[in-house]
Amino acid sequence: MTATEPNTKSPFPVIDFDGWLSSSSTATSRSKCAADLVRGCHESGFVYIINHGIPDNLLKEVFELSKNLFDLSHEEKMLAPHPPDPPWHRGYSSVGLEKVSSTLKEYKESYEVGSEHNLDAPPIWLPEAVLPGFRTFSTSFYWTMNAFSQQVLGVLAMGLGLSQQQTDEWKKAHTGNNNQLRLLHYPPLAAWEMEGGEMTRMPAHTDFGSFTLLLQDDCGGLQAEERASGTLEERRLSRQYIDVKPMDGAIVMNVGSLLTRWSNEYLEAPRHRVTLPPLSDRYEGEQRMTRERYSIPYFVSPDLDTMVETFPSCLEGENAQPKFEKIRWRDYMRMRAQGSY
Ligand SMILES: [Fe+2]
Repeated sequence: MTATEPNTKSPFPVIDFDGWLSSSSTATSRSKCAADLVRGCHESGFVYIINHGIPDNLLKEVFELSKNLFDLSHEEKMLAPHPPDPPWHRGYSSVGLEKVSSTLKEYKESYEVGSEHNLDAPPIWLPEAVLPGFRTFSTSFYWTMNAFSQQVLGVLAMGLGLSQQQTDEWKKAHTGNNNQLRLLHYPPLAAWEMEGGEMTRMPAHTDFGSFTLLLQDDCGGLQAEERASGTLEERRLSRQYIDVKPMDGAIVMNVGSLLTRWSNEYLEAPRHRVTLPPLSDRYEGEQRMTRERYSIPYFVSPDLDTMVETFPSCLEGENAQPKFEKIRWRDYMRMRAQGSY
C-alpha cells in the first residue's frame, strides 16, 4: 500500500552536518552549521540532522538488535529487570512500569543502557546466552553516539558564542558516563484505546538532560508542541502538536532542559509526546490496530557534579539577567526524576 503523507513539508529544520564534519569543511561552513543548528533549536526545539557520519548499516543493525531483544519472552527480558529506585534507568522495564503521567496508561516497554564506567549506575545486562552479542554491540553503539554528541556540543558551543576554553570545559563535563541509550518498543494497540484518552504511547513531557538524539522507525506518532508566542499560560491554552515525521537516515535532535538553563531560555526544551501514527496504512483490521513502533533515544547529559549556570554569552539585551539559579545537575535530575517511576 502506498503511504499518504498528511504533511508534505516538515516544519522542523534540517541541519546538514557536512559543513561541520567534512574533511573539506571551512571556518565559514562550520560557522554556518553552528548558526543553523542554534537557530533551528531556538525556533523549533526539534531539528533533523543529516550527514551526521553514523553509517546507515549501523543504524539498521541497532534497530534489528532492538527487535530481537523485545521479541524475547517476558521471562527472558525480566532476567535484566530495571531497579525499583529512581532516578537510575538501567535494564528492562515492561509495559506499564514507567509512568511519565499519573493519569495515562503508557503502552510501551524499554531497555536502558548506560556507561560501564558509571559506578553509581552500572549497566544491567541479560545473560550473554539469552541474546548473544547484545552487550558488545550496544556498548559499542553507546560510545559511537557519544562521539557524535561531542560534535553536537562543539556545534552548539560555537553557535552560542562560547570561547574555546568554555567549549573545552563544556565538552569535558560531558564525559559520556552519564548518557543513556534507551531501546523503546511500542507494541500494537487498538486505536480506540488511545482515542479514548486513557491509554497512550508516551504522554507529553520535556527531556531534562542537555539534549536528546533520536532514531525512529517509519511508524510515526512522535509529535512536538508548536512554538507560539505569548505568556506561558497563553501558550498552554493554545497548545498544538505537530508531527515530527520519520525521515530516513536522519537523526532527530531535541533540546533538553539543561540547555534551556545554559542558554537563558534561548533554546527552550520542547514538550513532545508519542500518539497515534498519522498515516492510515499504519493501522490494520476492524480494531484499527496500530503498527508497532521502535525508537531509540540517546539522552546526553553532563557528569553529575557539573554546575549548570547560564553562559555569559547568552546574557544580553532584555535577557541580560539569568532566569535560572545555578544548580548542580545531580540535584536538578533528582528533582525532575521523582514522579517518573
Ligand atoms: Fe522525550
